[in-house]
Amino acid sequence: MIPIITIDGPSGSGKGTIASLLAERLGWEVLDSGALYRLVGYAAGKSGIGFDQVDNLCEIARNMHVMFKGDQLFLDGEEVSRSIRTEVAGNAASKVAAIPEVRAALLEWQRSFAREPGLVADGRDMGSVVFPDADVKVFLTASAEERANRRHNQLKEKGISVSLRDLVRDIRERDERDQNRDVAPLIAPVAALEVESTSLSIDEVLEQVLGKVRTAFPDLCV
Ligand code: C5P
Repeated sequence: MIPIITIDGPSGSGKGTIASLLAERLGWEVLDSGALYRLVGYAAGKSGIGFDQVDNLCEIARNMHVMFKGDQLFLDGEEVSRSIRTEVAGNAASKVAAIPEVRAALLEWQRSFAREPGLVADGRDMGSVVFPDADVKVFLTASAEERANRRHNQLKEKGISVSLRDLVRDIRERDERDQNRDVAPLIAPVAALEVESTSLSIDEVLEQVLGKVRTAFPDLCV
């Protein structure tokens, strides 16, 4: 059995940061499942495929050639690490992610990321659907305003100016779609450690998660 830690939560809750820090501490693999949905949305946009063309979207999900190289991500040979991180790509991702057939097409691929010595998987349904038997499940939240604020600061650092009000609206819209879709909606998995991070630092969140990891894996020195 390969040890697995899942970290789920809404957009901008800090799952990606916590998952990377944790994977680094443990020396484990990391799965950023949101990137897979972003890639499908991006590839569809490039080929002019609409969100209602389910067969074509599934074909993309099954056949796209993706390469992870450190922090870089390649889709069919094109470096897309930055292009899939835009708000537009995030929204496209959440639209394709609401289609059950697309989710099914990505399921086994996501499970194949589980490799020794262990996997930290981040997303919306990692603990509820993809890895229901995970050893540790975490559900990370923060208020929509705080999440928009964090995103605003990240973009500002990159010299990109976006209105905070638009970011709050986009985040709420995406939450609404992710929480209310019929298949694999965003929910806290049973027995998950729930961390409300609005007024916590990254180190404080990490420490809470590590507490749970130490209990589940007493032999690991983390
Ligand atoms: O996590 P990230 O913001 O990159 O995810 C982009 C979109 O992909 C989310 O808004 C969500 O709709 C979808 N997603 C999902 N299930 C996952 C990961 C992401 O539905 N496991």
